[in-house]
Amino acid sequence: MTSETSEIRPAVVFDNVSKAFGSKQILRDISFAVPAGRALCILGRSGTGKSVTLKLLMSLIKPDHGKIWVEGDEITRLNEAGLSKVRRKMGFLFQDAALFDSLTLYENLALPLHRLTTKSQDEIDATIDNVLSQVGLAGDKQKMPVSLSGGMRKRAGLARALVLEPRILLADEPSSGLDRITAAEIDELLIRQKTQHQTTVMVVTHDVHGARSVGDLFAVFDKGSLAAFGAAAEVEQSENETARRLISEY
Ligand SMILES: Nc1ncnc2c1ncn2[C@@H]1O[C@H](COP(=O)(O)OP(=O)(O)OP(=O)(O)O)[C@@H](O)[C@H]1O
Ligand SMILES: [Mg+2]
Repeated sequence: MTSETSEIRPAVVFDNVSKAFGSKQILRDISFAVPAGRALCILGRSGTGKSVTLKLLMSLIKPDHGKIWVEGDEITRLNEAGLSKVRRKMGFLFQDAALFDSLTLYENLALPLHRLTTKSQDEIDATIDNVLSQVGLAGDKQKMPVSLSGGMRKRAGLARALVLEPRILLADEPSSGLDRITAAEIDELLIRQKTQHQTTVMVVTHDVHGARSVGDLFAVFDKGSLAAFGAAAEVEQSENETARRLISEY
C-alpha cells in the first residue's frame, strides 16, 4: 500500500486470509495483490476455494483471519455502510449468473440502476442498450431469463455485473459450459473491459486457453493454499506440480 505510482497501486490485497467452514479449512494464509487495471485469473481444482475467494472479496462471507483491502479500504474492518460503498465499485458475475427469474433481462439490469444511481429513465435505457450491445444481447432485453440459452445467461450475468461501470470486475467461471467461440467472445469482452476502461479484472476459470489470453497474472489454489502466483512464465516454473499442470495448455 506504500507504492508511489498509481499504475502499480494494488486494487485488491489479500493479507494472510484464512477461512474454514466447520472443521474444514478451505483457505489457509492466502496473500496476494492485484495491481489496478490488471487481470488476474484464478485457477485450481474443484472445491479449492476459488468461489469462496471472490465471495470474501464481496464481503458476502467473512474471513476467520487476515485482512482484505479494496482500493485502499480495509474491507475486513468496515461496517455495512462502508461495505456497500466498496461493493458498489465491484461487479460480480456469479458462477450461476444469479438473474432474477421473474424479471425480464431489461428489468434485471434496470433494478440496480434505479436503486443505486441517480440516472434518469432515458439514461438508464441508454446504459442498458449500451451494455447489452457490448455482450451481444441487444435484441433480447424483453426476454425472461428462463428463455435464455446457457451462453446467453452468462452474457446476461456479465451485463448485470457491468451495468454499474465497476472499477473491479469479478467473474466466476464466465465461460464454463460454453462452446469455444462463445467462450472466446466472453474473453474478448473481459480484455476490452480492462484495456478500454482500465477495470481491474479477477476471473475464476477452468479454461486455461482463455485464461492465458485474459490474464496478466495467475493464482493457482491447491489444497487450501496459494500454490503459485505470478505471470504465466513464472507459474510454469512453479515447484508445485498442480500449478504447472493447470497453467499448461496441452
Ligand atoms: N457457505 C458455505 N458453507 C459451507 N461450506 C462451503 C460454503 N461455501 C463453500 N463451501 C465449501 O468450501 C469449499 C470450496 O468451495 P468453492 O465454492 O470456493 O470451490 P471452487 O474452488 O469454486 O470449486 P469449483 O471449481 O467446483 O467451483 C467446498 O468444499 C465447498 O463445499
Ligand atoms: Mg466455484
